[in-house]
Amino acid sequence: MKVLMVCLGNICRSPMADGIFSHKVSERNLSSKIQVDSAGMISMHQGENPDFRAVSTCRKHGVDISKLIARPFTTNDFDDFDFIFVMDKSNYRDVIAMARNEDDKQKVHLLLNYSNPGSNAVVPDPYYGGMEDFEAVYKLLNDACETVLEKLIK
Ligand code: 4NP
Repeated sequence: MKVLMVCLGNICRSPMADGIFSHKVSERNLSSKIQVDSAGMISMHQGENPDFRAVSTCRKHGVDISKLIARPFTTNDFDDFDFIFVMDKSNYRDVIAMARNEDDKQKVHLLLNYSNPGSNAVVPDPYYGGMEDFEAVYKLLNDACETVLEKLIK
């Protein structure tokens, strides 16, 4: 099973989600069964490591995302992944706009809608915020990833 986390820049929310989800997969000894990656809808940060605030927030919780490298989302990702989890509605619109068919569209979910069906909740962009915003995003992602992983392995 392959899971892709997607946000705008691929330097804050989606690498955090990628690291948190991978950490949970590895704690459950499921690394051979479930693979996780992340991507962004803009290529501006391509090749960069995650934002230092994202790295530092994750490190505080025992999750190392320092070596992840940003890359843009591509149409091939619809073929390579089973689940594409997006952080907010603008990511959702952008990914859906690249879908080639109904099968592609079916793979795309707002992360927080998958963990809390019908909530339509989003993971807010912390890029222009402070450390407290990164901490709030960490908590949202940690809860969501826990619930999503439980659903996927049921
Ligand atoms: P992310 O945050 O989508 O959570 O990675 C952002 C990072 C960079 C930008 C926007 C959002 N930016 O405009 O450069």
